[in-house]
Amino acid sequence: MNGARQPIGVFDSGIGGLTVVKALIEDLPQESIVYFGDTARVPYGTKSKSTIVRFSLENVEFLLRFGVKCIVIACNTSSSWALPTLRKYFKVPIVGVIRPGALAAVRQTRTKRVGVIGTTATIHSRAYETAIHRLDPTVKVFSQGCPLFVPLVEEGRLNGTISLQVAGEYLRPLMRQRIDTLILGCTHYPLLAPTIRRVLGPKVTLVDSARQTASEVRGVLLGTDTLSDRRARPRHRFFVTDEPGHFNRIGHQFLGQLIGSVERVNSH
Ligand code: DGL
Repeated sequence: MNGARQPIGVFDSGIGGLTVVKALIEDLPQESIVYFGDTARVPYGTKSKSTIVRFSLENVEFLLRFGVKCIVIACNTSSSWALPTLRKYFKVPIVGVIRPGALAAVRQTRTKRVGVIGTTATIHSRAYETAIHRLDPTVKVFSQGCPLFVPLVEEGRLNGTISLQVAGEYLRPLMRQRIDTLILGCTHYPLLAPTIRRVLGPKVTLVDSARQTASEVRGVLLGTDTLSDRRARPRHRFFVTDEPGHFNRIGHQFLGQLIGSVERVNSH
């Protein structure tokens, strides 16, 4: 079943994972993608580990119905808490976004002072800190949960006074730590990059895991000899667990292009 013609499966708690799909499409344009957004149960970032792991197991089971050759956990919160369990339960190669983001940050930092922002659950898991220290134990990591960022993005408040004020509150403690690199450890945060940049100034490097994740996926496909070399146009499918209106309306902001049809399903 696992051949070059099979699609890549991607799941997220909702819409934000489309930022990872965007990077995958740019990097691996010949690959078909099946996307699953658990919009009925979003957000994951405020939930407990056991709930996040349970939802993530169900999401993988859904994607396996499509014979996917590899699964990408686009959601930072799921990657933080569920990746080891998913790898234990399933044979299909599974890529999370934490290690790629950590790797990009370790490569970028010059002063070895790295900030991480994410949902409450992601920060609580210390997954980025662990991944960074595996790569370089001398890097100092400063973490900050930013729970208001996801609703701001979902409401389209990407810039303007409210976003700027909230970003200022969250980021000031990290500025005091003189970080030179900041990991945007949540699917939604790349959309707030201009506001984050306004607060931090031009000198701090912003790291978005999506691009590095796409390159890790390429490595996995090469390693399993399942990289698609077909000239045929790839087919992307999008599934959500709630009414798809919101996903359709704002999805293009995350994906950078219009989404075709979105199908509503039950994952469990
Ligand atoms: N996708 C989640 C993440 O990257 C953000 C939204 C949520 O809290 O579910 O952590």
